[in-house]
Amino acid sequence: MKITIVGTGYVGLVTGACFSEVGIDVTCVDIDEKKIENLNKGILPIWEPGLEDLVKRNTENGRLHFSTKLSESLDEVNIVFGAVGTPPDEDGSADLQYVLEVAREVGRHINDYVIMVTKSTVPVGTAEKVRAALQEELDKRGADVDFDVASNPEFLKEGAAVNDFLKPDRIVVGTDSDRARKLMEKLYKPFTMNGHPVIFMDIVSSEMTKYAANSMLATKISFMNDIANLCEIVGADVNAVRKGIGSDRRIGPYFIYPGTGYGGSCFPKDVKALVKTAEHFGYDMAVLKAVEDVNQRQKSVLFAKAKKYFDGNLKGKTFGIWGLAFKPQTDDMREAPSLVIIEKLLAEGAKVKAYDPVAMEETKRVLGDKIEYAKDKYDAILDVDALFVVTEWPEFKVLNFKVIKKLLSENVIFDGRNIYDVEEVKNNGFKYFGIGVGDKL
Ligand SMILES: NC(=O)c1ccc[n+]([C@@H]2O[C@H](COP(=O)([O-])OP(=O)(O)OC[C@H]3O[C@@H](n4cnc5c(N)ncnc54)[C@H](O)[C@@H]3O)[C@@H](O)[C@H]2O)c1
Repeated sequence: MKITIVGTGYVGLVTGACFSEVGIDVTCVDIDEKKIENLNKGILPIWEPGLEDLVKRNTENGRLHFSTKLSESLDEVNIVFGAVGTPPDEDGSADLQYVLEVAREVGRHINDYVIMVTKSTVPVGTAEKVRAALQEELDKRGADVDFDVASNPEFLKEGAAVNDFLKPDRIVVGTDSDRARKLMEKLYKPFTMNGHPVIFMDIVSSEMTKYAANSMLATKISFMNDIANLCEIVGADVNAVRKGIGSDRRIGPYFIYPGTGYGGSCFPKDVKALVKTAEHFGYDMAVLKAVEDVNQRQKSVLFAKAKKYFDGNLKGKTFGIWGLAFKPQTDDMREAPSLVIIEKLLAEGAKVKAYDPVAMEETKRVLGDKIEYAKDKYDAILDVDALFVVTEWPEFKVLNFKVIKKLLSENVIFDGRNIYDVEEVKNNGFKYFGIGVGDKL
């Protein structure tokens, strides 16, 4: 089987590498010439555990190819995946220009049956727009070529993307064609054989499933952040509350950790896009609007604590930040809470020294010389007034109190991920402010 994947970002590259790993001939296409040139040299555009090995192995064995020319990557191909970006439009709805351009390009060049599968996260009704765009191009050149469209949203998590793709909880495929369903069954057979189910459904439900999944996860996060903030006010310990509710099987222990708000390329834009879709159909997504509001507020919570601690004056203070990426195991800085915290600190006249195990280059690209870049986690807190823990990388999880006491000018920690034991930190002579735990301000 031969497939083409259009868009070689987080989703497209992982999808391509993983399909090639199970024996499928894959071409990954991108319009970014530099990206493809680098990939052909074995240089990856993103940092993702396990991906480099997978790409190297499958490029060397000839199953994974990279190209900038979609038109030349369609020969004998049965399935074309669209995995291009769907960034938010000015009003928050998903911008479909890249998705539809791929459909048009496919329509301009196919000569045999293909399934045009949308893997990008797209609002309900997009498959029909894809079908129309592709058909329009076929009509323009008077080509009578049969094709189907399908929706196959991606649920991988950055930081665990390879594992998630190879061992998915489930694969969702939306299609209205028996022919497409049979081909998709064949494509995913290596995964279903290993016990990972494909759930087939109609296209609209499949498109909706992706947004519902991300919105539910974002809701859990904002809910728990709200609870944590209230815990602080009433004097409850959110860690205890979390364990207390997480042991209820109807709630479960996952995704109920309070923090500095969700970021990344998906939750913020997908929550906004679903609210917009609902508005378009005349429905008010009241819960999701609140989820978004709470998240915006939460990104400033750590900063607000620091401002209060330093009596409202941060001018001339220096803050050491551990963790910049929006979550551990990725270098993705899109919508990272660290950016909001840093901008707020800088706006108050404070200085920032920061360290992240893999996202330093990405941060430099975004922030340039606005902050100081430390060479390691200890350098980041040398002579600073307080430590901010923003991303819970494993290397931050155990504190060497003796060392950090010597480095920090003032023994105060603002822990945006609640990764430390409150009593231990306090017993070692530190002031400790977590999210819903720690000292009172
Ligand atoms: N990143 C994630 O964790 C994740 C998870 C699930 C779903 N998604 C969804 O998948 C989609 C892609 O996300 P991503 O994070 O991989 O995006 P990305 O920005 O990392 O990659 C998109 C790629 O598409 C390329 N591209 C744009 N137009 C093109 C065209 N006409 N032809 C060829 N290439 C083109 C861009 O150059 C870029 O390399 C989005 O809809 C996103 O919401 C993302």
